[in-house]
Amino acid sequence: MTVCFFTASGNCLDVARRIGGTLLSIPKLMRQETIEIEDDAVGIACPVYAGEMPMMVREFMTKAKIKTEYFFFVYTFGMSCGAAFAHAELAAREAGLTLNYVNAVHMVDNYLPIFDMADQIRTLPEKNVDGQLERLCAEIAAGRQRPAVITAKTKLQMAMFSNRLAKSILKKDTAQHYIVNNACIRCGICVRVCPANNITVTENGVLFSDHCEVCYACLHNCPRNAIHLSREANSVRFRNEHVTLQDIIGANE
Ligand SMILES: Cc1cc2nc3c(=O)[nH]c(=O)nc-3n(C[C@H](O)[C@H](O)[C@H](O)COP(=O)(O)O)c2cc1C
Repeated sequence: MTVCFFTASGNCLDVARRIGGTLLSIPKLMRQETIEIEDDAVGIACPVYAGEMPMMVREFMTKAKIKTEYFFFVYTFGMSCGAAFAHAELAAREAGLTLNYVNAVHMVDNYLPIFDMADQIRTLPEKNVDGQLERLCAEIAAGRQRPAVITAKTKLQMAMFSNRLAKSILKKDTAQHYIVNNACIRCGICVRVCPANNITVTENGVLFSDHCEVCYACLHNCPRNAIHLSREANSVRFRNEHVTLQDIIGANE
């Protein structure tokens, strides 16, 4: 089994580890000229962004040559998956793959403009992540079929709502509007946790380029809590309790 994962605050790395097998970081794979993955089971673990998958995961689905008998997609999310299952199904079809299993794990929502991380962490036990993962891991290990269902209504929702929402939230120049305050000591952790290689630290401070994934890895993992949005619920940040800063660096650097 091979699980390809994308993570900013650790939820998807936690899930990928629990599913097991060989874990491959999507940001690292994307830096290769070609990507070829062959295994009896191959899966993706990634967050829901604006009701679909992160931009880099979509690009990965186009670039990677995957050969497998059992292909699965596991999202992590905090509020609603929107049309994410349908997007996984369509991306798999375009890649010439059959999506055998799609599911999602309800975890902390790390979307800072809306959610208070302290509140998200406090209410996490209600989501019973262990129980969700026990079922999901057993289903994948047993090769269970759980395909996405795309109805005419789903297609309409995708056209009217999901695509527009994604376009308004997922903009490659987003980080250029981030605010870095005086707490910054130019330690360069933001550079190392960024999956998109979008950040440089110079004598003049932290500079953001124009290929941001809007994952907030830099905001959530800054040791000085120095990076902010002009509009955020508050300044509390989040990293999955089973994942360390070194793990995020190892996945994204
Ligand atoms: C830009 C952005 C958009 C998001 N959109 C959604 C969404 O539409 N629905 C949802 O339930 N969660 C959404 N989330 C929350 C993440 O999917 C969720 O916190 C995920 O578990 C984070 O995974 P990670 O810790 O591996 O980075 C969004 C997060 C970000 C940063």
